[in-house]
Amino acid sequence: YSIPPPIGKNGILSICFRLAASKKRNSMSKGKERWGVLKNAIVEKRIGDGCESQSTRNSFCFNLFTRKKCNCLEKACVKSRKEENDCRWFAYVCNSMLSVKDIWINHPNPKTNLKEITSFNNTGNVCIWPSEEIMAYYCMSNLDLFCGKSVIELGGGSSSLAAMCIAFNSPSTRVLITDGNGKCVNMLNDAIHTNQMNVSNGTNKAQVSATDLRWDMPATYSQYTETFDFALCADCLFFDEFRSFLVDTIYSVLKVGGTAFIFAPQRGNTFHNFAELCKLKFTDVVQIEQYNHHIYKQHLEYLIKNKSYKSDVHFPILLKVRK
Ligand SMILES: C[S@@+](CC[C@H](N)C(=O)[O-])C[C@H]1O[C@@H](n2cnc3c(N)ncnc32)[C@H](O)[C@@H]1O
Repeated sequence: YSIPPPIGKNGILSICFRLAASKKRNSMSKGKERWGVLKNAIVEKRIGDGCESQSTRNSFCFNLFTRKKCNCLEKACVKSRKEENDCRWFAYVCNSMLSVKDIWINHPNPKTNLKEITSFNNTGNVCIWPSEEIMAYYCMSNLDLFCGKSVIELGGGSSSLAAMCIAFNSPSTRVLITDGNGKCVNMLNDAIHTNQMNVSNGTNKAQVSATDLRWDMPATYSQYTETFDFALCADCLFFDEFRSFLVDTIYSVLKVGGTAFIFAPQRGNTFHNFAELCKLKFTDVVQIEQYNHHIYKQHLEYLIKNKSYKSDVHFPILLKVRK
C-alpha cells in the first residue's frame, strides 16, 4: 500500500474534510426528509371521512346508515352559507327505517394540526365508529323506550349519532350529549343548531344540548347526579386509565332504576374488565350479542366470508346495566 500524503488533493486531511462534508449533507437531507414526514403527519394529515373510509383501514361497517353529502352545488347547503369548497356536512339516512329522520353531521376537517393531535383524546374526531352507528340503530329500533325520558350520551365523539337520532326523532326526550374533548363539543353544538334549523319542526323542537364532561373529573358531572333514565356509551371501554372513572360516572348520573346501553367490541380483555367493574356497582349487568337480528346475521356472514373480520375488534357487543 502507498500511504497518502497528509496534505494535497488526495491527502488524508482533504479526504477527511470531504467525508465530513458529505456526511453533514447526508444528515441534513435525512433531517429535512424526517421533518417533511412529520409535517405531513401533523399539518396535513388526512383523517377518515367516516365509517366508510375507516372500514378500509381497520373497521367493518354494518351499513345501517347511508351518508348523503350536502348538496351545496345546488345552493341547498344545509348551513345556508357559501361553503361549496369545504362543506363537510352529511345527512345520515337510516337505511331500513323510513320513518327515522335524517340527521346532519359535520365531519371533522381532514386537516388536523399539532394542537388538536396533542389535545385531550382525539379519537372522537376521527370518524363515527361502528359501535356508535350500531348504538344509533339499536336506539332507533327501540325508540318508544325513550319517550318522555331523559338520556345522556358519554364520550359521544364529534357525531354522537345515537343521541342525535333520539333527540330529533323523539322530541319529548331530554337529551344531553357529552364528551371530554373540546373540539367534539364545539362540533356537537354546531350540529345541534343545524338540525334544529333543518330537522326539528317549529313547534316540536328537540330538547338537546351538548357539554364538556370528563369521567375523571367528577366536578364536571356532579350537577347531574341521579338525573338520567338512560345513559349511552359507544366504543369507550379500551382506555385503561379511564375505565373505572367511566363506571363511576355512569353510576352517578343514572337515576335509581335507570339503564345504560354500552356498545363496544371485546378488544382483548377491555370489555370483560369493564363488565367486571360494573358488577361491583350495578344491580343487573347483562352482556348481549344477539341484540338485533339484522346485525347479528351480518356479523355471521362477515365471519364466514371475510378472513380479515375478527369478532374481537370488529363486532360490538351490548352491555346493558341497571342501577
Ligand atoms: C373512540 S371515541 C368514540 C366516539 C363515539 N362514541 C364513536 O363511537 O364514534 C372515544 C371518545 O371518548 C372520549 N373520552 C375519552 N376519555 C374520556 C374521558 N376521560 N372523559 C370524557 N370523554 C372521554 C373521547 O374524547 C372520544 O370522543
